[in-house]
Amino acid sequence: MDFQKIRKEYENRGIAPSQLAADPLVQLKAWYEEAQENCPGRWFEANAMALATTDLAGHVTLRWVLLKGITDEGIQFFTNYESTKGKQLEANPRAAVAIHWPYLGRQVRIEGATGKTTREISEEYFHLRPRGAQLSALASRQSAMVESREQLEQARAALERQHKGQPIPLPEFWGGYLLRPDRFEFWQGREDRLHDRIVYTREESNWSLARLSP
Ligand SMILES: Cc1cc2nc3c(=O)[nH]c(=O)nc-3n(C[C@H](O)[C@H](O)[C@H](O)COP(=O)(O)O)c2cc1C
Repeated sequence: MDFQKIRKEYENRGIAPSQLAADPLVQLKAWYEEAQENCPGRWFEANAMALATTDLAGHVTLRWVLLKGITDEGIQFFTNYESTKGKQLEANPRAAVAIHWPYLGRQVRIEGATGKTTREISEEYFHLRPRGAQLSALASRQSAMVESREQLEQARAALERQHKGQPIPLPEFWGGYLLRPDRFEFWQGREDRLHDRIVYTREESNWSLARLSP
């Protein structure tokens, strides 16, 4: 495979601090809506984001999770609190996120401290998920070793029998995180790689905007 010959030109219009919302969460919502409206198909998850976390020794891990809410305070995602990411966020609540919308030539980077959402928020989202996904969350000790696929399926089937005809309870070990951002970067790919990068940094209750070199 010849990586040197792969070259995409970025053609979208540019961005400048004066055109962006004063609140980066408002700007994120606007870009997210545009990304959903222009989504190339059901196969592309416009709410997928790469989430980086670390342990106290500085080991970094990265995985995709789904963005499940943009509030006035930050962004939400849901997971297993005892997974690798859950343990790392317990040790070091700081996290970084990157979202890429290739068909718009856009990237958003977000950094901040995370905390668990309220149980009410987790309950509400958990019960909105399809029953099959609820059962799988209940059956999975995410990121722990499992002997076989069969063992997982049997555990899930046992839980299905146990809860037949009843709602699936939200497991203690499962729920949401709210990442409260203190830094955002909005990246717009431009012609000849002279890209636009606008960074927001939090200054107490306000945000300051600056342009970064591409
Ligand atoms: C597109 C995509 C979306 C995903 N969304 C989630 C999610 O919202 N929550 C989650 O726990 N795992 C999600 N996963 C699985 C994670 O990437 C990861 O495998 C899992 O959470 C275990 O990660 P950890 O061991 O680092 O904690 C997603 C994977 C992909 C590819």
